[in-house]
Amino acid sequence: MDVLLISQEGQAESQTAGIIAQALRAKPDLVLGLATGRTMKRVYAELARLHWEGGLDFSRCRTFNLDEYLGLPAEHPASYHRYMEEHLFRQINIQPEHTHVPDGMTADVMGECQRYEAMIQAAGGIDLQLLGLGLTGHIGFNEPGSPLDSRTRETRLTELTRQQNAGPFGGLASAVPARAITMGLGTILEAKRCLLLVTGSAKATILARVVEGPVTPLIPGSLLQRHPDCKVVVDAGAARDLGMGSGDPAADL
Ligand code: GLP
Repeated sequence: MDVLLISQEGQAESQTAGIIAQALRAKPDLVLGLATGRTMKRVYAELARLHWEGGLDFSRCRTFNLDEYLGLPAEHPASYHRYMEEHLFRQINIQPEHTHVPDGMTADVMGECQRYEAMIQAAGGIDLQLLGLGLTGHIGFNEPGSPLDSRTRETRLTELTRQQNAGPFGGLASAVPARAITMGLGTILEAKRCLLLVTGSAKATILARVVEGPVTPLIPGSLLQRHPDCKVVVDAGAARDLGMGSGDPAADL
């Protein structure tokens, strides 16, 4: 794992967007794995800016989102479909048929998961997978105990995750669906590159376990230590408990 500490407020997100932009310029038909959550909003705002002001071209880019709640229609304000439309897809020149988010309303969950895996394979696999981190240590919606070789599948959310994600549901954890479809840990680890963005001191304890603790299914993000090409972008708050980067922040840039 290659940890990049960006101390300047708001810069971890733009640095992350810059890494994505660079990969897209190098490979215009990039297969990009995408994440949701508060952390990514500024990343997507910056990608939209790079598109409008810098001509960053998404016309050949294909995307696959990590996850979606089960039981929420795409147009539900808290669905990940809606999040992606609002924060990224409508802001750039991506072709709608090149974007993929699991169908949370499917009547055949297993079939939908297999279809999703097959589409990733058909696209040639994911070139760059963007990831956020949940307070439980989850990546995607792979909660503690997720099998290390798991594929896209139905998963149950922990109470902590439902609390963490309650914001778009009027602050009510009980309104957050308890089930979701997520890419598996095995699916994520097959991405050619992984890019984990973690910001804020609330995630400092879990980030230290992900980066510096033992690799264990109890901390799903720790599995990224086994990925041959995983960059972790962190701000000063998230880096608080790491054993590195406590010196001159500029030296880490
Ligand atoms: C959700 C998503 C994850 C995301 C996490 C972090 O649970 N399924 O993919 O990484 O939230 O969210 P936030 O950025 O809001 O802290």
